[in-house]
Amino acid sequence: MTAVPSTDPAPASQAEVTAEIEAIASSYVETPDATETQPRLDYSPYRSSLLRHPTKALQQADPEGVELWAPVFGERDLDPLEADLTIQRTGEPVGERMIVTGRVLDGDGRPVRHQLVEIWQANAAGRYVHQRDQHPAPLDPNFPGMGRCLTDADGVYRFTTIKPGPYPWRNHRNAWRPAHIHFSLFGTEFTQRMVTQMYFPGDPLFPLDPIYQSVVDPAARARLVATYDHEVTEPEWCTGYRWDIVLTGPHRTVVEEDTLS
Ligand SMILES: [Fe+2]
Repeated sequence: MTAVPSTDPAPASQAEVTAEIEAIASSYVETPDATETQPRLDYSPYRSSLLRHPTKALQQADPEGVELWAPVFGERDLDPLEADLTIQRTGEPVGERMIVTGRVLDGDGRPVRHQLVEIWQANAAGRYVHQRDQHPAPLDPNFPGMGRCLTDADGVYRFTTIKPGPYPWRNHRNAWRPAHIHFSLFGTEFTQRMVTQMYFPGDPLFPLDPIYQSVVDPAARARLVATYDHEVTEPEWCTGYRWDIVLTGPHRTVVEEDTLS
């Protein structure tokens, strides 16, 4: 098959970006008191973040004022079937069927109950249903790639979906994202929204990916990776992964800007 000509507008090679990632990683010094649990906003290997990261102090919004006009929802607004991304159309989506489940916890390990968890992801071929994603991988007519659920009384969320594929993005020449699922969580107020990404264990693209590597603390970075769990796997049906999310405290899950990638 003829290779598709590169349309990457970014001139840097993967080798150059990897060298930048490694230089930053080698200069990071872990200290017990000041670990960097969140991504660096001015992380140069992630090119577009340099132009759009905040450079001024954030404006504090009054949560009560925001909630006067922000949308609200309740349990009756969600259909439990929305947690199964494999049944949203008339046929079966292609790919590895999987369950992803875990608990949403606060910084003291307490369950965060009845909270909205939303996910969005590429299909098994690494393609999003989005006009900005036009790379030549097939769309799956049976996989819109979005789902949502509420955590239960123990803070547990659970989705049935298809394992996403890696996909190219134009950060640099031949740049590929590790397979991931985007998560959005709302706490008790809309101003507490958290957006993050879950990855899969053993992905060979980890050392090459500026978004994953922008979390320079290795322990915080590792918390973004789900665990394969054979107890979640169901016989003759699907594989299972477990991933817990911590909203606050020193083990808080990494939060990111809301992006397509
Ligand atoms: Fe993505």
